[in-house]
Amino acid sequence: MTEPRKSEDPSPHQLRSGLFVALEGGEGVGKSTQLRHLAASLEAAGFRVYHGREPGGTPLGEAVREILLDRTGLTIAPPAELLLMLTARAAFVSEVVGPALAQGAIFLADRFEGSTFAYQGYGRELDLATVRALNAFATGGVHPDLTIILDLPVEDGEVRQTEAGKTGDRIESGGRAFHERVRAGYHALAAGDTSVHLVEASGSVEEVHQRILAVLQPELECRILKREAIDR
Ligand code: TMP
Repeated sequence: MTEPRKSEDPSPHQLRSGLFVALEGGEGVGKSTQLRHLAASLEAAGFRVYHGREPGGTPLGEAVREILLDRTGLTIAPPAELLLMLTARAAFVSEVVGPALAQGAIFLADRFEGSTFAYQGYGRELDLATVRALNAFATGGVHPDLTIILDLPVEDGEVRQTEAGKTGDRIESGGRAFHERVRAGYHALAAGDTSVHLVEASGSVEEVHQRILAVLQPELECRILKREAIDR
């Protein structure tokens, strides 16, 4: 999470309420790069922005992340994997996301519930209704206002990861069929929810950034509370 700005900082854009945006996508789609880019653009435009990653973002979440991703020799059954993801999420929502939104800031999440639906629901083939119910318990009903899924063919993501010299963690090493189910899951989520948008992740960092801004712009416009209106 970035440090909160002091209240005397210039803040040309004040929002009516906090805005919660989740960035999602399969492996190697460039999600974290885009999140940094987006946070920088929004801050430069005068918005107060916080961000965090999942699993992680809190001391408990980072400890759970290490178990989930780095211990490649550890057997973690899909239901246990789900519950560990949700343990991290419960802490993330109460310690990080909730307080940022309460300040009227923009919160950018590097993954959130969409990952759980796509990876544990579609990828691990756990019952989706159960996954959704457990997720709702962990989040207390806090949902992203907007979910942006960066979409790329699985093999293109693999090439990007190889080029970046990334060796697969426990979940990344799940195999092609698993990652194809995850991608199909993301497509199904976008088809079933108007707040979930698929964004083509091929092309340059700047091209993808512009596509993300185009999705975000209308949501931001209708939430900006102009300074004149506040001062009156
Ligand atoms: P990343 O931060 O490098 O994207 O790695 C996080 C990994 O955790 C990624 O493989 C997706 C996976 N994941 C799930 O399987 N379920 C979840 O709910 C979340 C948040 C992440």
